[in-house]
Amino acid sequence: MLFLMYLSVFLIAGVFVSFWIFNRYVLKLSESLFKSFLTYATFLILISAFGLSGYFSYPGWFLIIPILIISFYFYNAFYRHRFRKKHQFYKPLSIEYPPSSQLIFTTTNLQITRYRCILSKSTHDSIRIAHLSDMHLDLIPDSSFYEKVINAVNASNPHIAVLTGDFISRNEFLPQLYQCLKELNPRMGSYAVLGNHDIWEGAEETRRHLEMCGIKVVSAKCSLLKTKSGATVKICGDESPWGEELKCQETQYMPADLSIILTHTPDNMFKLSRKDADIVFSGHLHGGQWIFPLVGPPVSPSRYGRLFQQGHYLVNGTHHFISAGLGIVWYPLRIFCNPEITIIDVDL
Ligand SMILES: [Fe+2]
Repeated sequence: MLFLMYLSVFLIAGVFVSFWIFNRYVLKLSESLFKSFLTYATFLILISAFGLSGYFSYPGWFLIIPILIISFYFYNAFYRHRFRKKHQFYKPLSIEYPPSSQLIFTTTNLQITRYRCILSKSTHDSIRIAHLSDMHLDLIPDSSFYEKVINAVNASNPHIAVLTGDFISRNEFLPQLYQCLKELNPRMGSYAVLGNHDIWEGAEETRRHLEMCGIKVVSAKCSLLKTKSGATVKICGDESPWGEELKCQETQYMPADLSIILTHTPDNMFKLSRKDADIVFSGHLHGGQWIFPLVGPPVSPSRYGRLFQQGHYLVNGTHHFISAGLGIVWYPLRIFCNPEITIIDVDL
């Protein structure tokens, strides 16, 4: 019994170290057979190494090493909890959950999250923004799900739709992307940046299909628009680290009442909060995609680990909305993590 407990501590530490290496290094590689091989190899080698170390070192002081690793993991969980408490600002106004007939494990249990964001700019204008991210068009979910998504966005009658990348998982789905997004019709237009998968699968082709749908792709540039009452809105895009970075001069010489930056990864949050932005939108982390009770999401492809995941944050005075996304990667499964559309009413 004691031996099994001893061994379990080693195996748990092995799992934590594998996830750390997977999130930090393996996930950054572009999709390929080599990446799949490296993923399974990382888990297999590390868990076996930790298991064997436990087996041969029993009983002994060597146990301190996995205990330190597990303690560090829980210290990180505590730090993350404190960070989120400090920076999480708005709670959603409402969350429209999927019908209870839909299981928590499906990939099509669409959730609509609504926020109100008060900027107090004294222009007495209000702009409704719909945020969509990480469609990851592939075989699953099928096109009927995305029809439902676009209908839900149109029904919420937004002024602007912002899309923060990873439209496709494979480039043969670009025609389907066109069929789906050409129906999107916000009152003042749609704006997008590309994500890592779009860039790996073909940035130019993805941009072309988005532009064909009437979506303006703001790759490392800005676009200016005016509301009916005359307030100006600037929308810029930063596609780093996979694509081009938004230069400071692009954002500075275009003053506007509302300044928005779109980026795929929340890892750019601190960098962009120092630029002239009121609101930053991002996605990429899929809200964790698989969230296990007590443990949280094991996979989080971020430099900051699981700090941001999804929701609203206020960092250095800049509002940051991170979407849980719509599609899936790897296994066709979302666990306690619904695909999400976010609707934000911004009071200027
Ligand atoms: Fe991504």
